[in-house]
Amino acid sequence: MEIVILPDAAACGELIASAMAELVERKPDALLGVATGSTPLPVYQALAAKVRGGSVDVSRARICQLDEYVGLPAGHPESYRSVVLREVVEPLGLTEESFFGPDGAAEDVAAEAIAYDRSLAAAGGVDLQLLGIGTDGHIGFNEPCSSLASRTRIKTLTRQTRLDNARFFDSLEEVPHHVITQGIGTILEARHLVLLATGEGKADAVAAAVEGPLSALVPASALQLHPHATVVVDEAAASGL
Ligand code: GLP
Repeated sequence: MEIVILPDAAACGELIASAMAELVERKPDALLGVATGSTPLPVYQALAAKVRGGSVDVSRARICQLDEYVGLPAGHPESYRSVVLREVVEPLGLTEESFFGPDGAAEDVAAEAIAYDRSLAAAGGVDLQLLGIGTDGHIGFNEPCSSLASRTRIKTLTRQTRLDNARFFDSLEEVPHHVITQGIGTILEARHLVLLATGEGKADAVAAAVEGPLSALVPASALQLHPHATVVVDEAAASGL
């Protein structure tokens, strides 16, 4: 695992956006797996700036989701489909046609999760998966104790994760209890994993993931199993290393 420590979130965003731009230059139809949350925003902003400046052409790139809330209609402003369209797809000048993810409002959510897992492989696999990390060490929505071999499936959110994500909703009650998330085994199939963490609030989770033992209690520690994993952190998130 490669650890990159940079002074601040903007520098982290710039570095990862450059890695994405290089990938797309090498492989124009690369499949980029994107994460939601506040942490990756500087990456998307830096990549969109490169697109606007003409230094990279992402018009053939494809984007896919890491996870999705169950029960929110696709058009709900906080469904991860809406979030990724708003924060990634549209700023990059792409359309919905370049983008796919699981439907959290599907009638048969379990079947939808399996179908989404298969669609990733059918699309040729994820070339670069960007990950954030939860304060409890989760990746995607794989909460502690998720199997390290898990596939895309329904999960129940912990109270802590619902509290962490309540800021995007009007109240805690509105935060869904269930989600579809790529499993840890699914995530590990991406060719390059890039985990980004910024801020002191992530320092303990980063230290446990990077320097702790491989453990289902810390889902992000699964990156230790991957042959090409890069952890990008600012100085605050690196403070526990
Ligand atoms: C959610 C997402 C994760 C993300 C996490 C951290 O749980 N499912 O993919 O990593 O939030 O979000 P933030 O970056 O806002 O701290």
